[in-house]
Amino acid sequence: MRFSPASCVFLFFSGSYAASILHRSESNNATLACNRLQTLLGTIIETSTGPDFNATVNSPRNLFNTEFRPACIVLAEDTADVQTAMAAIYEFEIDYAVQAGGHSANTGWNAVDGGILISFERMNQVSYDASKDTITMQPGVRWGQSAIALEPQGVAPVGGRVDDVGTGLMLGGGLSFLSPGHGFAADNYVELDVVLVDGSLVTASATNQYADLFRALKGGANRFGIVTRYEVQAIHTGTSNDKTWFGGSITYPESSFEDLIKAVSHFVKNTDDPNAVHLSIFVRVDADNQETVVGTTWLFYNGTGTDLPENIFGEFLAIPSLATNLSSLSYLDVALILAGSSTPGQGTVWGATALAGGEDDLYLDTLRHWTNFSASFASDLTVSSLAFTPVPLSQIEYGRERGGNAIDPPLVGYNAILNGNILPPGVITAGDIQQGMKLFLEQAPSSPGIPLYVNECDSDQEVFATYGEFDFLKETYAKYDPTRFNIRHTRGPVGL
Ligand SMILES: Cc1cc2nc3c(=O)[nH]c(=O)nc-3n(C[C@H](O)[C@H](O)[C@H](O)COP(=O)(O)OP(=O)(O)OC[C@H]3O[C@@H](n4cnc5c(N)ncnc54)[C@H](O)[C@@H]3O)c2cc1C
Ligand SMILES: *[C@@H]1O[C@H](CO)[C@@H](O)[C@H](O)[C@H]1NC(C)=O
Ligand SMILES: *[C@@H]1O[C@H](CO)[C@@H](O)[C@H](O)[C@H]1NC(C)=O
Ligand SMILES: *[C@@H]1O[C@H](CO)[C@@H](O)[C@H](O)[C@H]1NC(C)=O
Ligand SMILES: *[C@@H]1O[C@H](CO)[C@@H](O)[C@H](O)[C@H]1NC(C)=O
Ligand SMILES: *[C@@H]1O[C@H](CO)[C@@H](O)[C@H](O)[C@H]1NC(C)=O
Repeated sequence: MRFSPASCVFLFFSGSYAASILHRSESNNATLACNRLQTLLGTIIETSTGPDFNATVNSPRNLFNTEFRPACIVLAEDTADVQTAMAAIYEFEIDYAVQAGGHSANTGWNAVDGGILISFERMNQVSYDASKDTITMQPGVRWGQSAIALEPQGVAPVGGRVDDVGTGLMLGGGLSFLSPGHGFAADNYVELDVVLVDGSLVTASATNQYADLFRALKGGANRFGIVTRYEVQAIHTGTSNDKTWFGGSITYPESSFEDLIKAVSHFVKNTDDPNAVHLSIFVRVDADNQETVVGTTWLFYNGTGTDLPENIFGEFLAIPSLATNLSSLSYLDVALILAGSSTPGQGTVWGATALAGGEDDLYLDTLRHWTNFSASFASDLTVSSLAFTPVPLSQIEYGRERGGNAIDPPLVGYNAILNGNILPPGVITAGDIQQGMKLFLEQAPSSPGIPLYVNECDSDQEVFATYGEFDFLKETYAKYDPTRFNIRHTRGPVGL
């Protein structure tokens, strides 16, 4: 925070001026709040004529979110800046959004029209403390950056699988290639600095008076406050010389899809080895009127073997494939294997479902409905994909051992399933695709009792209601945001 005697005087006058005006639109309030912040915070406030305004407005991965124009942007440099911003946003009752890595697929979750955008692009430090064996991240760091910066020290956070995704991932849970052994990313929190909705700052941990907030932030997404510092457990992954993993990708033709989906169903039911990692994605790509339909599976095993263990991955290895690329890898190789695959700057439409392992008929149904969806919209989409991420028992147990998260799945291995779509360049509305997604989600419901994954959901999905700790989440929300300000003023998951 940058207080000067002059700005305190301004604060006093602008406060009494504000109180004397009775009829005022919210956009006037936004202007007042931006003016006040400009006085308090100086050059880190950008309005539309500022040098960084356009770049920040255009930075969300989903093109739809680059259509929003905030009244001003706070390019926060520290926690105090975020506190100052939230105090003004709260007092003037204006809409706001927070942007970390900018990868949200949902419209308006990291962008705002007329209100204030808090950007973390200038808070992107990551460091390792060997004495505590923890990693501290500012919210603007991205997973590839973290993995590269910490590799010489042989550690990594449990983060994302695509390099340019950001820390917002943890607030929704966070699925990593390390998750079978080390839980959802959020299960590894040690301490969080959280700016509450009125601008006050608290430090939350598993054992202090904010333990409820701490647990709610493991899955509660952007509803509970703004995290300005994440301290997480360090995972000892080795350096790039330590080729302790074996694996890579296998690409399958469409004719193998039914066998592949059954293998995906069986894997999470039968495998409970924390060192076994899997991700499968069915894709339809439409480029230059050329259509390609393939399945790609990523398989990794943490162990120094020179092959994938047959007893774990045999079913995948036996399916007729088009190409195989398996080798010895360091964790850094694994962490960067999907680098560059995020296709920024095009519109996205996402929706989530989830199935318990072993329910083969439901997996086949889900594949069939996605096949119809993707074929129906083939000419309107550049990429349509159906991705399966296992959440094995070992992952669920790890989270419970560390105090539990809000998602709180039952002790059943399941797959988080994403129907993820990328629109052609320049297209800024979803049109009928949104209706098609709605139909798909009705046709392919999740297994009863299995939670949906909020980071892969459609904005209309009632994800929180599927959590094991839904009641706890509602109570904790009412405690930390009693006027429901966040629900009224920033977009995010519904249903609290
Ligand atoms: C290409 C791609 C690959 C992905 N891969 C994975 C994956 O491997 N595993 C996985 O789990 N998910 C994955 N995701 C989903 C990802 O977890 C979500 O999109 C996540 O929300 C992205 O976080 P972000 O910081 O990049 O995005 P942002 O859009 O900046 O943030 C996401 C949401 O969190 C809020 N938010 C961000 N930071 C804060 C904060 N500090 N305090 C309060 N609210 C905050 C934002 O306002 C927004 O609502 C992927 C997404 C994409 C597009
Ligand atoms: C920012 O973009 C707008 C169009 O949205 C354009 O008119 C303006 O010149 C741009 N500003 C800068 C500094 O590039
Ligand atoms: C504008 O801010 C004032 C407080 O400064 C608040 O009382 C008022 O409700 C706000 N107006 C709108 C339209 O939100
Ligand atoms: C890999 O497996 C070994 C042996 O089981 C274990 O000690 C190590 O922690 C694992 N590494 C990771 C990153 O999970
Ligand atoms: C195979 O995987 C390795 C390791 O990720 C990568 O460096 C290489 O480019 C891949 N080869 C092909 C042909 O994709
Ligand atoms: C296939 O998808 C289209 C587009 O959403 C929809 O209109 C149609 O009813 C679907 N067909 C079946 C059999 O589900």
